[in-house]
Amino acid sequence: MAPPMRSLLGLANALEETVVRTQVGIVGAGPAGLLLSHILHLRGIESVVLERHARDDVEAIIKAGVLEQGTIDLMNEIGAGGRMMKEGFRHEGIVLRFDGRDERIDFPSHTSGKSVMIYAQHDVIKDLIKVRLESDGDIRFESKDVSVYDLDTTEPKIRYRDLQGDIHEITCDFIAGCDGTQSVCRPSVPAGVLKVYERLYPFGWFGILCQAPPSSSELIYSMHERGFVLVSTRSPDIQRMYFQCSPTDKTDNWSDDRIWAEFRARLETKDGWAPKEGRIFSKTVIGMRSLVVEPMRYGRLFLAGDSAHVVPPTGAKGLNLAATDAQILARALIEYYKSNRTDLLDRYSDTALRRVWKATRFSWWMTSMLHTFPGADEFQHRLQLAELDYVTRSKAGAAALAENYVGLPID
Ligand code: FAD
Ligand code: DHB
Repeated sequence: MAPPMRSLLGLANALEETVVRTQVGIVGAGPAGLLLSHILHLRGIESVVLERHARDDVEAIIKAGVLEQGTIDLMNEIGAGGRMMKEGFRHEGIVLRFDGRDERIDFPSHTSGKSVMIYAQHDVIKDLIKVRLESDGDIRFESKDVSVYDLDTTEPKIRYRDLQGDIHEITCDFIAGCDGTQSVCRPSVPAGVLKVYERLYPFGWFGILCQAPPSSSELIYSMHERGFVLVSTRSPDIQRMYFQCSPTDKTDNWSDDRIWAEFRARLETKDGWAPKEGRIFSKTVIGMRSLVVEPMRYGRLFLAGDSAHVVPPTGAKGLNLAATDAQILARALIEYYKSNRTDLLDRYSDTALRRVWKATRFSWWMTSMLHTFPGADEFQHRLQLAELDYVTRSKAGAAALAENYVGLPID
């Protein structure tokens, strides 16, 4: 396959070009890429991480907040969990609010003691970048025009342009495409190889960060005819909240007063509960879809995290799936370098996809149970209420939610 950058730019002769070799070339310094790079480093395998954004920007993007038990354990095992254990909040349950009442799902009693950690994704990223750089990790921020090629050979390559305009080429044993939903790696696989499964949801989430004390000691997932609401938290002073909105809604349509009125209306309980209000300093609209591509491999390119699958945020699974993909891929690469075994690499896609589809199902189920669908009638609403009543009153129903929420094992 011809290197596309060379022909595209036609400038190769004029630009300084450096060629480097590494064992694993990683595109993207999100949770998947950084975790993979550090796990490999701890087992003596070298990698180069290429990230298109500047370090400050990567460390500032507001995204997820819930870490599964397995993600907490992984952060600790690789020596990146110190701040998380001090500043994160262990949550042992969630509240489902419907029909004006609260029902709690307890995690430890249904999952042999497991729980989750509330700790912001950008803090996970900061901690991972810190441990990577402290161990001389090679993360190349602000790498532009990244392209991957020769994927079906034993020497796949990555090309990119640095801030000075110099073109670099890295020859790798393997490439990990950890570059999120806007992946350049995924579309580099020849047409027809990947099968894409996709579902769009007819709503989005309006997310805010505000300066206020917590409204609740546990997350509240609230189903209301006006639409879903999630009450989450970040710290004793900063709260994260979301409400279901139109997927095409704009932040400008929502004044602070209108936002709080909507939260109050949707969160009302029979005993008059209301959220604690404060200055809103961040507003975003988030689209919701499910997407899975199969297989998660082409030749020596392996896709991990959001580049291979996207879930709606309702189940808090995206970051955690990225972490388990990184673990599964790291194990396979470690076996390859230790004993030249390729069977785990050959099974990577199947192993990862088994868990990915279960998380996709859980996220779809939570989304369907808790959101108001446009055009839904009273029958649909009654079914949702019945399902919530079942899940919260049946031991089996509660256990199914709890074990999925804290994270299923890798098997
Ligand atoms: P990303 O985090 O997207 O990282 C990819 C990286 O690749 C980025 O740094 C990007 O800049 C870089 N990149 C992209 N293209 C290129 C390129 N061409 N060249 C170089 N670099 C490139 N998940 C949970 O588990 N729990 C939650 O509570 C949760 N809540 C969420 C709430 C919201 C509002 C949103 C939006 C998401 C939430 N998620 C949650 C999902 C989670 O944030 C993502 O699934 C997670 O970030 C995926 O990690 P990743 O490493 O695969 O990709
Ligand atoms: C958060 C996001 C989620 O998608 C979720 O299910 C729970 C919490 C959060 O950002 O805090």
